[in-house]
Amino acid sequence: MAHIDLSRQVDAILVAPASADFIAKLVHGHADDLLSTLCLARDCPLYVAPAMNRQMWQQAATQRNIVQLQQDGVRLFGPESGAQACGETGMGRMLEAEALLAEILAASASASNPASARPSAANALLAGKRILITAGPTVEALDPVRALSNHSSGKMGYSVAQAAIELGATVTLVSGPVALQPPAAARTIKVTSALEMLDAVESQLPGQDIFIAVAAVADYRPQQSSQHKLKKSQQSLTITLEPNPDILATVAARPNPPFCVGFAAETENLLQYAEEKRRRKHIPLIAANIASEALGQDESSLVLIDDAGSHPLPHGPKIELAHGLLQHIATMFTHTDKQK
Ligand code: C5P
Repeated sequence: MAHIDLSRQVDAILVAPASADFIAKLVHGHADDLLSTLCLARDCPLYVAPAMNRQMWQQAATQRNIVQLQQDGVRLFGPESGAQACGETGMGRMLEAEALLAEILAASASASNPASARPSAANALLAGKRILITAGPTVEALDPVRALSNHSSGKMGYSVAQAAIELGATVTLVSGPVALQPPAAARTIKVTSALEMLDAVESQLPGQDIFIAVAAVADYRPQQSSQHKLKKSQQSLTITLEPNPDILATVAARPNPPFCVGFAAETENLLQYAEEKRRRKHIPLIAANIASEALGQDESSLVLIDDAGSHPLPHGPKIELAHGLLQHIATMFTHTDKQK
């Protein structure tokens, strides 16, 4: 029968948007249309993303239903507070699609028992670990409208953050300006310049187990940033740049640093330059890639370099590379932790 077959073909069901009416149907086990029948016939996890007017969300009937639904083992994603389709503002807005995807991935990664309402992440590879990640470019102001920056999209850093969450870690993401939605489960701090990134990293450092510096930090910043827009003239313009602090090297040089991981994007002599960088910054692990293959792309390849040598990860989507990197980090981290 179609409604039984359909519900058997999937790993999970997500109802998004889930109206107040549909939630009430679920609570009472109705099966008078295809969706409610699929939900009742399922033997997989059911996720529900409520979306309704703030007053409908607050009603005692809805709140009773929500409690009952959770007691029945259904997992709720959201809602959040914000602008609503009806023009009002408040609780009841559906999570954004990217946030829902992140919730599903996190839920399925940690689902040791698919039938359980709140899957435990206790067995995940990085469960209980606190990871601080930098991502994206930094932008160094020349004047209020002009800046020096680079073409980093943030995709690799955000993939590492996403993968770390999927593996059970508590993630803090310090991000330069990018066009990406951060993983919903990460604590995200947005910064612009390298000095701001260093400040944010240092403030978040206490208690972190692992620091992964993926950001493409600008090596230099203008010595002077004008308060007013610079006027053009026919003369050539000389801008004096001064070096930015090396955030990764600063963290690695602290007493009792977290396990530090760097990235190296090179255009040539990949392994040699990356290894030199690893030694210069005194870090146990560096992930090297060819700059032109990596910048802004959805896929790339990585070579991991540590004391034992180089370990290539095959070309693939950045989220898969991020998982490969984190598995390597987890093994090294456990080893160094045991030696302490
Ligand atoms: O020296 P280079 O910029 O090539 O090193 C790259 C690695 O160092 C990356 O992990 C990057 O995030 C980090 N880095 C940093 N602060 C800088 C420059 C680089 O954290 N100012």
